[in-house]
Amino acid sequence: MSQEATFFGLTGKKALIIGGGQGMGESTALLLARAGCDVALVDLVPERADAVGQQVAATGRQAFTVAGNVLDDDQIPLIVAEAEAKLGGLDVMVSIVGAAVWGSLLETTADIWDEQMRLNLRYFFLVAKEVAQSMIRRDQPGAIVGIASVDGQRASPMRGVYGAAKAGLISLVQTMAVEWAPHRIRVNAIAPGHIVTPRLYDTPQRVDAYAASLIPMRARGHTDDIGKAALFLASDMARYITGTTVDVDGGLLAANLFPRGLPGNNRA
Ligand SMILES: NC(=O)c1ccc[n+]([C@@H]2O[C@H](COP(=O)([O-])OP(=O)(O)OC[C@H]3O[C@@H](n4cnc5c(N)ncnc54)[C@H](O)[C@@H]3O)[C@@H](O)[C@H]2O)c1
Repeated sequence: MSQEATFFGLTGKKALIIGGGQGMGESTALLLARAGCDVALVDLVPERADAVGQQVAATGRQAFTVAGNVLDDDQIPLIVAEAEAKLGGLDVMVSIVGAAVWGSLLETTADIWDEQMRLNLRYFFLVAKEVAQSMIRRDQPGAIVGIASVDGQRASPMRGVYGAAKAGLISLVQTMAVEWAPHRIRVNAIAPGHIVTPRLYDTPQRVDAYAASLIPMRARGHTDDIGKAALFLASDMARYITGTTVDVDGGLLAANLFPRGLPGNNRA
């Protein structure tokens, strides 16, 4: 265990990662393990979780795969119970699963609305509630981290329902933080900007041009940038932080308030 790892107060803690099989979930799992956590990796694709688990094992911590679908309400209690049993407790939960569909509000049907809310908001509510109940039952403090989006912080043209769902997650995190503070459970969210992930952005040229013109730091983020924010929020370093959303966006949201574009872009 490195000396730095002890700063985080996570040595021997038990972390559940929903969507831990790739991208932000993989980064979060490895960073939590390096800080001393054992991890349970929930994924629809268990082979992905197994592969991340092998990397976790190389850090000296334990990893367990929990195969499951968090969009199936009936599976949620079973997933959380299996993770808790394998880990021998539950101190941290980071929930990664979510995705946007592309389309204007006028094109959006009621079915798309329901599907987006299920994928980005509803399951998070059900999983976080199940995890909080487990922490409360064992009278253990805990930390819960959800993944929102910059799309939940401003208008989100062509991803309007996704933005509404992520705004809902940000609101939910605030209410969970208030209602669960007496139980010593902290709840926070991360709002990623444009992050290079295995699933997104397979057209790098187009997106790099966008990044260069709109993101103050002139680059897309890495999955580790999200993992590091999750590690911070899960750790004792954030012991007095709850109900917040941390923007991890290279300054994107700040720049949205600047109507003439970024200095140096030569825009009117
Ligand atoms: N990439 C970005 O720029 C960006 C920006 C803002 C927000 N986000 C948010 O970041 C999060 C991660 O996005 P991503 O594209 O990296 O994730 P992803 O689609 O790669 O999913 C991560 C893992 O979750 C698993 N998974 C998917 N559905 C599942 C289910 N129903 N049950 C269990 N496991 C499931 C997948 O198999 C995968 O291994 C999402 O919440 C997304 O909305 C991403």
